[in-house]
Amino acid sequence: MIDIHTHLLPGCDDGSASLDESIEQFKLMIDAGVTDIILTPHYIPEYYDNHYENITSKIMILKSELIKYKIHLNLHRGVEVYLNENSPEIITSEFLYLGNSKYILVETGMNEFPINLNEILYKIVKSGYKPILAHPERYANIIKNPDLAEDFMHRNIYLQVNAGSLLGEYGKRVRNTAWTLLSRGHVHFLASDNHANLHHYSLGIAVREVKDYFNAGYVKLLTVENPGKILLNQNIDMFYSVKQYFIKKSFFANLIKKIIS
Ligand SMILES: [Fe+2]
Repeated sequence: MIDIHTHLLPGCDDGSASLDESIEQFKLMIDAGVTDIILTPHYIPEYYDNHYENITSKIMILKSELIKYKIHLNLHRGVEVYLNENSPEIITSEFLYLGNSKYILVETGMNEFPINLNEILYKIVKSGYKPILAHPERYANIIKNPDLAEDFMHRNIYLQVNAGSLLGEYGKRVRNTAWTLLSRGHVHFLASDNHANLHHYSLGIAVREVKDYFNAGYVKLLTVENPGKILLNQNIDMFYSVKQYFIKKSFFANLIKKIIS
């Protein structure tokens, strides 16, 4: 698997605070079958000094530590951009994309989408970049109206659901929204958004649960194939048929039981 959303670069943001915390998570990730990680510290200049040089030098240090600890994981550079009206203009100069791709991981206010959100995203798409909205299932607007997820897709915005959301780590409403998006095919990536604040690895657990309702092809699409296309800067299908991934036997009955339980 390739985990495209992690906060495991020590001392960069509200994620991992130390090398030890990151190493603990890296070991759990390897056990779960992760080969590659995109490090995505928050890019919020008012709060964190996560400019290009700072992140790059910290990644180099972390890579040398992994060699010392004999931890075999490929680390890739990225950030999670908290959108504001300046974001479209600084993507290239601040290297705000994932790896060397045109994909860019973005987040915004949880309680209410800013009124200029669509305009900001439009500018990013128009300049040739491919926004991926982090954890759509956690935004109040989408919890109230999950159809908004598909609206984003029609505007060329990809969607990344957090594994912890599927497990109920952000509450029942977020969990229900995450499973709804998954069952509609309105998800392109499953990732951990790992802040090193738990002693387990949510993506490893979530993929086992997803396999109760969907066949292994869906997990592969969301954790291997699509993330792999980011690393190769290849095009990812925005729309796909989710029905091919349903496990036929009483699929909806089981999933509804999950959503209302
Ligand atoms: Fe995040």
